[in-house]
Amino acid sequence: MGEGSIMMERLLEPEVMDDPEQALAYARADFEEENQGFVDRFMDSYPDLTEGHVVDLGCGPADIPIRLARALPGCRVTGVDASASMIRLGEEAVRAAGLAERITLMCQRVQAFSLPEAADAAISNSLLHHLSNPLQFWYAIKKLVKPGSYVLVMDLLRPESPEAAQAIVDQYAAKEPAILRRDFYNSLLAAFTEDEVAAQLAELNLSRLLIDVPDDRHWIVGGRVY
Ligand SMILES: C[S@@+](CC[C@H](N)C(=O)[O-])C[C@H]1O[C@@H](n2cnc3c(N)ncnc32)[C@H](O)[C@@H]1O
Repeated sequence: MGEGSIMMERLLEPEVMDDPEQALAYARADFEEENQGFVDRFMDSYPDLTEGHVVDLGCGPADIPIRLARALPGCRVTGVDASASMIRLGEEAVRAAGLAERITLMCQRVQAFSLPEAADAAISNSLLHHLSNPLQFWYAIKKLVKPGSYVLVMDLLRPESPEAAQAIVDQYAAKEPAILRRDFYNSLLAAFTEDEVAAQLAELNLSRLLIDVPDDRHWIVGGRVY
């Protein structure tokens, strides 16, 4: 950000991606590079996690749970998403992948979600920016995993202006359908900055988690939760 420039305020977008057309456009989009990159990073960061239960918050159409379950045959995954349309698409994809025995999907808001037994790891991609109160997300993470569990959370980084957000959409999503480009733009405007995420972690005593900014539009938080 240039000297003297003022950071754009966060502009919330609707929380749940419930519109069936919107969910279908998202499920059909090509997130191979981003989603496989996320799973690869999880595997590289936590090579000793080869079995157990991983919970995915805001799992959408279950592309990441499927990639993770394939990569870790000793793990089971529970995905939670508040959108019935996303869960329907996710269940179809899980069945088609032959992974219904190891992947369970639940249609619930993460703020109200609980597990009968705490999980061994938590992951989340691109959910946090949907929430009006980000602290509820970090609280849910803490509540859902055993102490000492691994966490990997990725989301978009808010650009400094609407023009910068539009430039990112034009650069990375020029060929995507209009509905997806609209959602991407709105998501960038609703996203958090690195400093805001750091403040959220500090507020919930999660400062041991580390923030990385791997490219011009993402932040990633990883480490163990105690
Ligand atoms: C941008 S999508 C990301 C989906 C998936 N994690 C991925 O990377 O492909 C965000 C998802 O979060 C879901 N979501 C939004 N608010 C939620 C909440 N409070 N609880 C659970 N899911 C929520 C939306 O319905 C949507 O499916």
